[in-house]
Amino acid sequence: MDKRPIGVFDSGLGGLSTVRAMKKLLPNEDIIYFGDTGRVPYGTRSNETVETYAAQDIKFLQSFSCKMIVAACGTVSTAAANVLSSTEEPSTGIAKPSAKAAVNATKNNVIGVMGTSATVNSGAFDEEINRLCGSAKVVSVSCPLLVSLVESNWIDVDDEVTNAAVKRYITPILEAGADTIILGCTHFPILAPIIQKIAGDKVTLIDSGLEEARYVKSVLESQGLTNDKSHLGKHRYFVSDKTQNFVDVARVLLGEDISGNCEFVDIFKVI
Ligand code: DGL
Repeated sequence: MDKRPIGVFDSGLGGLSTVRAMKKLLPNEDIIYFGDTGRVPYGTRSNETVETYAAQDIKFLQSFSCKMIVAACGTVSTAAANVLSSTEEPSTGIAKPSAKAAVNATKNNVIGVMGTSATVNSGAFDEEINRLCGSAKVVSVSCPLLVSLVESNWIDVDDEVTNAAVKRYITPILEAGADTIILGCTHFPILAPIIQKIAGDKVTLIDSGLEEARYVKSVLESQGLTNDKSHLGKHRYFVSDKTQNFVDVARVLLGEDISGNCEFVDIFKVI
């Protein structure tokens, strides 16, 4: 048994999709969440910058003696994978669990990946999918606008602008015949109802937040790191800029009002 919290971070609010899944799968675990809302987006930045930011975010979480570090951010998981894998604590990103789920789900071996520019340029999803299934065809599309739309809370299933953007981004994936699409950025599971509507029911969407949460559960269980089963998990949320959207999207995603439980951290002072 291990009472220490799990540290989860993202460039903004997308990582709440991982927290949502963790709350269901790991109800006894305490979670410290850091959303770098003051520096979002990461996905349009250079690998060096993403690595620097990721190292600071991890250092902040380590100040809580977390038992596991979870990058609930596709960009960090792919463009700064080396920083993530060098932590002393067990750590994970979204790439490996999502790639595995996609390879298990696909029937025709054509897999689409929606991610940020940094994620797509890293080639990390292609590499991981092809490591698991050499014959898989991977069609990756960078969808930077979708991050801004989620950060702006334009997430209603009927939102015209978001529907048009999703349609434009996923057309090459659908034209290539993909039967499975990885939502390779943690902001995108929030848009799953829109993406599913446009892709159609025959396409399986891989929710990167859910797959990551499943993986975290398996690591905690296999390493004897789970918390006491009688403990009700507590969650603390930190942001580097207090934005109303963070609280608004959290209300929709997590079904809870975190306005009184959202603390500011000056991430520039974490070195
Ligand atoms: N949540 C981030 C990711 O999964 C996307 C937002 C960003 O560009 O920072 O890559």
